[in-house]
Amino acid sequence: MSSYRVVPSPGVAGSLTVPGDKSISHRALMLGSIATGVTEVEGFLEGEDCLASLRALEQMGVVVRRPAPGRVEIEGAGLRGLRAPSSALDLGNAGTAMRLLMGLLAPQAFDSVLVGDASLMRRPMERAAQPLRAMGARIETTGGRPPVRIVGGAQLAGGRHATAVASAQVKSALLLAGLYAQGETTVVEPAVTRDHTERMLQGFGCDVRSRNGVTVLRPPRQLGAARVVVPGDFSSAAFFIVAGCIAATAPLLVQGVGINPTRTGLLELLSRMGADLRLIHHRCNGAEPVADVEVRPSQLRGIRAPERLVPLAIDELPAFFVAAACASGETVVTGAAELRLKETDRIAVMARGLAALGIAAEMRDDGLRIEGGRFQGGVVDSAGDHRVAMSFAIAALRAEAPVEIRDVANVATSFPGFAPLARSVGLDIEERP
Ligand code: S3P
Repeated sequence: MSSYRVVPSPGVAGSLTVPGDKSISHRALMLGSIATGVTEVEGFLEGEDCLASLRALEQMGVVVRRPAPGRVEIEGAGLRGLRAPSSALDLGNAGTAMRLLMGLLAPQAFDSVLVGDASLMRRPMERAAQPLRAMGARIETTGGRPPVRIVGGAQLAGGRHATAVASAQVKSALLLAGLYAQGETTVVEPAVTRDHTERMLQGFGCDVRSRNGVTVLRPPRQLGAARVVVPGDFSSAAFFIVAGCIAATAPLLVQGVGINPTRTGLLELLSRMGADLRLIHHRCNGAEPVADVEVRPSQLRGIRAPERLVPLAIDELPAFFVAAACASGETVVTGAAELRLKETDRIAVMARGLAALGIAAEMRDDGLRIEGGRFQGGVVDSAGDHRVAMSFAIAALRAEAPVEIRDVANVATSFPGFAPLARSVGLDIEERP
């Protein structure tokens, strides 16, 4: 089981570019596969999660070329061009791939079965299956979890669906199913979540509009192919943004980061803590806003995190907990029960890891209360969770002695090359088999 050993170093400085956005890369593959014509993707994330999506689409007959690193060309098969896979589709660790594919496969003519690794096989799938059934899908979970079995040939109807949880994955599953449905599909979310599917669908020529958490999609006759330039993943940049706040020796610049406002709740959380952050060089990659994030060393103060920011920072909360541990006073996060349903129970796994490094973290059902302090050295178990592993690698910048982080192979699901990139800005991090 591979691990990281991080030796406290003077700090971080310089500039870096993080790999492409995971959410956008999954969506580019899926929409490209059902478009008409060739979709070209630049900045594609070659992480295990997106490669699992890619292989699943190949299993359904889609031709995907990878002419250069980060470049993908998808021969769109058209809305009705996917073929029955000859075996179960294995989506590895990728919850996004599974939930989005549930929506894409529910209206197909053929049957399919979706499985994943041990973590994914424990994750809840009814949240997507239930509203899809309400559209007419014939879809079964196994006690709420994968394997997910989809019976082909269902005729879907659009309609209005209020999702029980604020989940971009569920919303996206319904919108993908809505492409094939009779009539308009309306999704009403309890809180606004990331809107990459909506933005990209528009780029593929689909009539989809959103306002205040209500999204309406009109089924198109076909989707036109598009060119997608994937920005750097804000969720990957987050580790370096926190690293800069807690341990910059000079400004740290993270370049080319997607700053879609449905993703950047962490920036507001850190600003409320007193972080010295600046967004510069604003531009657009097609439908997605991009900027460089400049971070300077900051004296952080503990805060009570506003619950409205939780869905906008959901994947960044493990890194935020590390910032909270380095802040003066206490930080309280509530309204984040969804964290318990991610690749691991991120409330429990983060609380255990913080405690292992000497930080008092009190678990709540829906969050954590963290008392700022000093990290000791020690051993942390990431429980196979990529974001937990990278968060503690950053924490080690401020530790009093080396930190060993166990079970880190899944960092490759979202951030291939994390350790060498982190070394390039000053982390003393060694990967051990
Ligand atoms: C994602 C949505 C979020 C996020 C996940 C990626 C997406 O999950 O945590 O990493 O690409 O749609 P939920 O929509 O379940 O909150």
